[in-house]
Amino acid sequence: MTPRTSNGKSNDVVLDVREVSVDYGGVHAVDDVSFTAKKGEIIGFIGPNGAGKTTLFDAICGFVSSERGRIELEGRDITGLNPTERARSGLGRSFQDARLFSSLTVFETLACAFERHTKHQGAVSTMLQPLTWWVRRRENKISERADEIIDLMGLTAFRDKFINELSTGSRRVVDLACVIAHEPSVLLLDEPSSGMAQKETEAMGPLLQRVKETTGCTMLLIEHDMPLVTSVSDELIALETGRLVVRGQPRDVTNDPRVVSAYLGTDERVVARSGMIRTDTVRKRVNAKSKAKPRAKKPAVKPKAAPRKAVKKPTGTTKSS
Ligand SMILES: Nc1ncnc2c1ncn2[C@@H]1O[C@H](COP(=O)(O)OP(=O)(O)O)[C@@H](O)[C@H]1O
Ligand SMILES: [Mg+2]
Repeated sequence: MTPRTSNGKSNDVVLDVREVSVDYGGVHAVDDVSFTAKKGEIIGFIGPNGAGKTTLFDAICGFVSSERGRIELEGRDITGLNPTERARSGLGRSFQDARLFSSLTVFETLACAFERHTKHQGAVSTMLQPLTWWVRRRENKISERADEIIDLMGLTAFRDKFINELSTGSRRVVDLACVIAHEPSVLLLDEPSSGMAQKETEAMGPLLQRVKETTGCTMLLIEHDMPLVTSVSDELIALETGRLVVRGQPRDVTNDPRVVSAYLGTDERVVARSGMIRTDTVRKRVNAKSKAKPRAKKPAVKPKAAPRKAVKKPTGTTKSS
């Protein structure tokens, strides 16, 4: 596979999302969101459930129509295009659940993914297929590229295994490989680690870095696994109730009080226990708070609840009808 850029990163804006809004009835699922993504950049999207992350990806890929806004891919306005046209323009999307044919092997799955993106042949050459040398050459090319991507994704040991023999994590990697076969300029990944075992999640970070370095594509990544998303992303965007709250370096975003409170509420002790914000910062704040307002000592023994007073029912007042 040919790298698109020498260092995998340049200053070119590949995706420009401007003031995009999506409403579901009365719910503002995405509310006036704008951001840009540069070539070879990985942007992580975080936010609590229902923040609008998936809907934003759906709006970018054209699976839901946006009420307002404009989306440009490599300088071209794609707002009016349908999902297939957007995919052909260079948007690749993976979903939360990998949908693959269970009776194909990994190699066959990848070969099909490449086949879909090669030029269709005419009816005559299809009939003459077994005889024509150019068809054989094309098939060899597909097979070579399928093996290249199997190697890139670390799937060599599973090459001839059927999809239904693979773990959820490996199926997700195959699904991701199929999207990469399309050679997208922007790859949108919705929770690639969901349903994965801890070990597979840990391997996902280096895998995404390898894909970025080899293909040079830009990645937008929705991910709940904080160690994964903070380690792999160049920048994070935090969403809450459909709005973009903050964008910046992973460390700054995860330490931003608005992000912390969106995830964990405002109780600083809960925050400290979560490990999301630097514990020294939290500890200082907690200590300062405790000095300012000494908390009442917790009683060692839980006081017994006061016995409930029996409520006397009024007697002899009921009229019989
Ligand atoms: N198909 C739908 N119909 C109605 N409301 C939806 C639909 N999909 C998502 N929503 C609502 O839009 C908001 C954003 O959802 P979503 O984009 O799935 O959030 P996230 O991916 O951040 O968890 C939520 O309030 C959700 O209930
Ligand atoms: Mg989602």
